[in-house]
Amino acid sequence: MKIDGRHYRTIFPAPDGEGICVIDQTRLPFAFETKTLRSEAEAAVAIRTMIVRGAPLIGATAAYGLALAMREDPSDRNLDGARTRLAATRPTAINLAWALDRVAGMLQPLSPGEREAASFAEAARIADEDVASCRAIGKHGAALIAAIARRKSGPVNVLTHCNAGWLATVDWGTALAPIYVAHDAGVAVHVFVDETRPRNQGAALTAFELNAHGVPHTVIADNAGGHLMQHGEVDLCIVGSDRTTSTGDVCNKIGTYLKALAARDCGVPFYAALPFSTIDWTLTDGVAGIPIEERDAREVTHLTGRTDDGAFATVAVVSPGSPVANPAFDVTPARLVTGIITERGVAEATPEGLLGLYPERRAAT
Ligand code: MRU
Repeated sequence: MKIDGRHYRTIFPAPDGEGICVIDQTRLPFAFETKTLRSEAEAAVAIRTMIVRGAPLIGATAAYGLALAMREDPSDRNLDGARTRLAATRPTAINLAWALDRVAGMLQPLSPGEREAASFAEAARIADEDVASCRAIGKHGAALIAAIARRKSGPVNVLTHCNAGWLATVDWGTALAPIYVAHDAGVAVHVFVDETRPRNQGAALTAFELNAHGVPHTVIADNAGGHLMQHGEVDLCIVGSDRTTSTGDVCNKIGTYLKALAARDCGVPFYAALPFSTIDWTLTDGVAGIPIEERDAREVTHLTGRTDDGAFATVAVVSPGSPVANPAFDVTPARLVTGIITERGVAEATPEGLLGLYPERRAAT
């Protein structure tokens, strides 16, 4: 992704070699600032406070967090402790546990003296593989967009929810990667961007990305999607995922399920785009099995934004004293999912569909 002509990944080693740089996503869309994480504790805070967010990027940050922990103290005790502390930062995205298991599993047989270099190298591999996976998701998903473009005149209208773009991954994105690939190939694409209350990842982050890449888009209130689908204005929905079960249940940002219901009612194809690291092969029932993060009520009761004079302000929007709930994710059952776009191709949202793309999981499941 390019910002002002410079290519960025969302996470990269600091030029001084002393830390890991990330883009501070709490400052977007009004300020583009990077932040250097210099300790495991700073990596944990970055994940918990959503300086970084999005399932694949959370995974990459946790991997680097473990590497920073190994630089501080490479003992077995700190390896276990750091892994536990980082795993507790956010509960829903499986990429977090996946990345920690991978780095910790590789470090365990090594001597403490070998662990710092090995963990930074493994974290870098995770980041590189995420870029390759997302680019491949883009290629497979773009073929779906191109097929629709051949059947209609005018742009292909894609509806997306939350931010599953390059800001949510190391680069390219999951749900947005097909859009970028199609757009770059000259296919006319227009994106309806759900604002995604309460944190507004769509309005703030997805719109920022699409603007930066020059992709035509329209930000809509979360409740507008069903209406647009009823009127034939959406050709397909593509969303990301924080955890997808072996049966194809898709957990994603709160509100995704309602979009899938509307899509089914209106005959609009509904796809989830995700890399292998988002699949939880241990779960068959997403509604029963996926832990849903409950976030601070203040995300619902207050809004922060820029006033017309350029100042930042936080205002209350809920009747004082009313109780508030803030579940951050929901699960779309596989029966509502048209297909799952992965780095290996597009699968049916069924156990057989997913195992067809990942046959090496057959023995394990
Ligand atoms: O709470 P967030 O902003 O971390 O939630 C992000 C999402 O729900 C994304 O859609 C999901 O992580 C897929 S990202 C490629």
